[in-house]
Amino acid sequence: MSATAQQEELDERRGEPAASWTAPVQLRQLTAHPDGSRPLVSVVIPTRHEAATIDPFVHRVLDALDGVACELIVVDDSDRDNTVEVLLRLQEQLGERLVVVHRPRGSVANRTLGTAVVTGIRAARGVYVCVMDADGQHPPEAIPHMLVAAQQGEADYVGGSRYLPGGSAQGLDGVSRKIISRGLALVTRLAFVATPVRTVTDPLSGFFLFRRALVDGVELKPVGWKISLEVLVRSHARYLTEVPYTFAQRADGDSKATLQQGLLVLQHLLVLLLTATGLGRFATFALVGLTGVGVNTGILLGLQAAGFDALTWPIWVAAELAILWNYTLNKHVTWRDRRRYGRWWLYNAAALGASVVAIQITMLLATAGHAALWLASLAGIAVGMGLNYAILDRVVFASMARLSILRTSPLGRSPRAESSADRPSANPVARPTGRVRSGAR
Ligand code: GDD
Ligand code: MN
Repeated sequence: MSATAQQEELDERRGEPAASWTAPVQLRQLTAHPDGSRPLVSVVIPTRHEAATIDPFVHRVLDALDGVACELIVVDDSDRDNTVEVLLRLQEQLGERLVVVHRPRGSVANRTLGTAVVTGIRAARGVYVCVMDADGQHPPEAIPHMLVAAQQGEADYVGGSRYLPGGSAQGLDGVSRKIISRGLALVTRLAFVATPVRTVTDPLSGFFLFRRALVDGVELKPVGWKISLEVLVRSHARYLTEVPYTFAQRADGDSKATLQQGLLVLQHLLVLLLTATGLGRFATFALVGLTGVGVNTGILLGLQAAGFDALTWPIWVAAELAILWNYTLNKHVTWRDRRRYGRWWLYNAAALGASVVAIQITMLLATAGHAALWLASLAGIAVGMGLNYAILDRVVFASMARLSILRTSPLGRSPRAESSADRPSANPVARPTGRVRSGAR
């Protein structure tokens, strides 16, 4: 099936009314699964300091899945309360139906919510995997509806959505988190506009279900919390649908979300764009530059609002902070395979040099060339950007071996050949083979 035909089919499916997913579920069909020995669904639940709520929550999930062949996998990273003791007691009662993975402090290199979910996914045996929070904000009662949507609609991925009609984000604390959540969802859909992800209303939901085979052999490397996006993009899921749900108030305790997690979403988006979609280095560099323009303008306007004269020192401070912002993103995303080479002072010098050239070209075109100012300015920016990219790629993020041709080498050592890791790979798209269902159905 061609990509367009697949897209048409997808669009058709998405046109179905959301209400059909909320009709009464026939549980009998959910107990049947291909080989009878595996659960139909593995529910992966990450926990950190949820001692007060985890016991009733596990029972609530089991009640919601009454009659469904299921297993629960709780991956616990608590160190300040007795969540794990509660879990082990539950495990004695429930046997095989509950798998507990405890990761004490220091036991894994990167102990975050993201890696906890990946650990749970890897331990899962079910045909489907459902990921959800332990604090009661995601309703387990929606899981049967998600399973039906997955089976009847033959969907690869069924997301819970707070933004479909019938769903709600009422439980998000505060107006600012609601705005950030909506904004990030929109940015995500725009960033992946060339993929099926653009059709998902809540791509950053922590509540989602997918066919486990989708991630077989796919390396999941979450940055921050957004595993749904990681699964969606890296697995190249094609058939996507959503079920509305209400994001409830937290039952107890506090959210562990931080501003840093919000910012990590942007980094995650860039990493995925670069590594999973085959977007080239230059496009990523351009995207980073665009975020830098936002930072520059934001700081400038902020300082002006604070009563400073924007055209004196603030204009320099804003520019320098934007350069440092771009430097950090370019180092960790655009040239992350060569990040050990990037020095901030060299980066700064390159940015400064490129700006001077851009300004000179704009001036020359506007005066001697009599070009309109907007055209002169655009031309200056285009040349400056190209030049900046070339210097960053050839000098700033180049290995010392490359740089040594710029210096005189007193020992006369011949430059070391660049290791293969330093070279941008010819085909940066790591596509899993045979994992995505082909069009024939
Ligand atoms: N294992 C483990 N390790 N679990 C963690 C960690 C960790 O480092 N940090 C948080 N958790 C668990 C919590 O115990 C809870 O079950 C779940 O992950 C979500 O944490 P919350 O602190 O309740 O997050 P939230 O409610 O602010 O954010 C939720 O909603 C977002 C949507 O706006 C999460 O589901 C996010 O993933 C989601 O994007
Ligand atoms: Mn929560």
